[in-house]
Amino acid sequence: MSSQIDHLLDEDRRFAPDPAFTAQAVATAELYERAKADRLGFWGDEARELLTWSKPFTEVLDWSNPPFAKWFADGELNVAYNCLDRHVEAGNGDRVALLWEGEPGDSRRITYAELTDEVKRVANVLAGLGVGEGDRVAIYLPMIPEAVAAMLAVARVGAIHSVVFGGFSADSLRSRIDDAGAKLVITADGGYRKGKVSALKPAVDQALADRNGSGVQETVEHVLVVKRGGNDVEWTEGRDLWWHDVVPEAPADHVAQGFPAENPLFILYTSGTTGKPKGILHTSGGYATQTAFTHKNVFDLHPESDVYWCTADIGWITGHSYVVYGPLANGATQVLYEGTPDAPHPGRWWEIVEKYGVTVLYTAPTAIRSFMKIGRAVPHRFDLSSLRVLGSVGEPINPEAWVWYRSVIGADRTPVVDTWWQTETGAIMVSALPGITETKPGSAQVALPGISVDVVDEEGAHVGNGNGGLLVITEPWPSMLRGIWGDPERFVETYWEKFADKGGFYFAGDGARLDEDGDVWLLGRVDDVMNVSGHRLSTAEIESALVAHEATAEAAVVGASDETTGQAVVAFVIIKESYLAEHAPEGLANDLRLWVGEQIGPIARPRDVYIVGELPKTRSGKIMRRLLRDVAEGREVGDTTTLADTAVMSVISAQVK
Ligand code: PRX
Repeated sequence: MSSQIDHLLDEDRRFAPDPAFTAQAVATAELYERAKADRLGFWGDEARELLTWSKPFTEVLDWSNPPFAKWFADGELNVAYNCLDRHVEAGNGDRVALLWEGEPGDSRRITYAELTDEVKRVANVLAGLGVGEGDRVAIYLPMIPEAVAAMLAVARVGAIHSVVFGGFSADSLRSRIDDAGAKLVITADGGYRKGKVSALKPAVDQALADRNGSGVQETVEHVLVVKRGGNDVEWTEGRDLWWHDVVPEAPADHVAQGFPAENPLFILYTSGTTGKPKGILHTSGGYATQTAFTHKNVFDLHPESDVYWCTADIGWITGHSYVVYGPLANGATQVLYEGTPDAPHPGRWWEIVEKYGVTVLYTAPTAIRSFMKIGRAVPHRFDLSSLRVLGSVGEPINPEAWVWYRSVIGADRTPVVDTWWQTETGAIMVSALPGITETKPGSAQVALPGISVDVVDEEGAHVGNGNGGLLVITEPWPSMLRGIWGDPERFVETYWEKFADKGGFYFAGDGARLDEDGDVWLLGRVDDVMNVSGHRLSTAEIESALVAHEATAEAAVVGASDETTGQAVVAFVIIKESYLAEHAPEGLANDLRLWVGEQIGPIARPRDVYIVGELPKTRSGKIMRRLLRDVAEGREVGDTTTLADTAVMSVISAQVK
């Protein structure tokens, strides 16, 4: 990490806001003043201004039992109503909500009135299936309009969605369905990825396959299936229903009932430091407030004229907050794209920007770096002049990628906002505001109005400008996670215990540095969580997938820095002697890579699997991943004095070569 810090310290390029942009900017410097003068009053005002409440709240925050926060607790609202009906009622029913582009080139334009109609029908279908307040619904869909409609319909009836990224395996889906006790699964036959139909329904079938004797009680009663891929699927009569059979038939009248602000809205599973993904729980009023606030101010949203595009999949938090809830609560018109950036050609994204006149683009550094690699000729074949704000999220953006983004995609003109946040924070926490902040390539810069963060040492003391430490959030915020589904102890232990004596510092798990101006520079995770292409992966989860293979005796996984993906998964595996006695070792490393892909999902597949004779361990048996990371990154191996056997690293280095 130190070389990275040195490099960042040299970064002194600055980009002042363009006065013409500032003159029309949605955000104002006064937001910071207002929030500073009265933080809770500020959030109360924003909640009232941005949302429609069926019952007004009287108290903004109840923090009497930290870390269990209640925001706007006695208020009531329907989040789906806020994203849909009220725009129609305000006369904006004809405004396009979704400009959907399928990977093969088919497209659909869906207005707010049409989306509202569809969601009402789906809500009626859900109610007919007995899905109501507090029930859990798993959603395993490609990036199609029905995914957005499904999420909103679940929210509308007061149920809780758990979206599982379509790239996850049947096993991953099953553990998420079981953990949440889902009553319904909404899926598709398949979706398009890289020019082919990638099937989804078979994974659902496999996840729900006969569990007699497994000890797990089946909670799923129905599977609602959207036809998208046209691929053949198996059918379980009585359990499976086609969306196109039931949704168009259902009535389009559905009155959105208000639910308490602290009603759960969704669970989203994310990787932590243990092998078991945690179900991050978000509730309604605070989450909707902060996603709407940040979407409006960070992206300078002018809903009547902007065409916004966030490239994230709805399977991730970015898709929840900045494809579904933030943009739709704000009445934005947005692009929704089904496929990959390079299918069927490497200019696909830029073609979409040109086709729809995208004005605000929000994507991840990993995508920017892979476009950099291809070169500017590809984007420059398209007219990108509509772009006026560019956003980045998911991992630290290196200054070169930031500057390339601004200059090549943004014609040396558009503000770039690097937004730091997490599944747990629900919405953006640290970011420049376009038109307001003088930007610095590589830095997420400042906490948003109403948000309090700090960089502290191991004891929780402020490090002071010019120093590095751990990022903490020092005050509760509206869209904060309310817990880990079914595991309140893990919630307290993971995020709040480290600085318990500070009276409520949230430990984010990220390293950060404050520069001389007090701006924040993120330096990556400080725990055993990896970040590959902006996706969070746990070393422990991949290790446990590796040891589940019959060949593996022991495994250690590290995140090694990678030019394109930020980090890459590198595994060191010891093979059982009994296995080697009966099998040839050829091809085994690759088999193990593919195995991890099958167990968890292709995103978790290691870049490299090294078969080694031993792993570096301390005398107490703890694996020293730091040393393995040195090997994986091709560096000289660091201090080995605490190893039980100090010679082991030279053996491993030789085996890796
Ligand atoms: O390490 C930080 C990194 O992504 C982690 C959160 O991952 P996830 O919950 O999957 O959410 C990703 C999308 C919000 C953080 O702990 N991260 C996210 N954004 C940034 C970032 N690191 C540096 N700069 C960012 N802008």
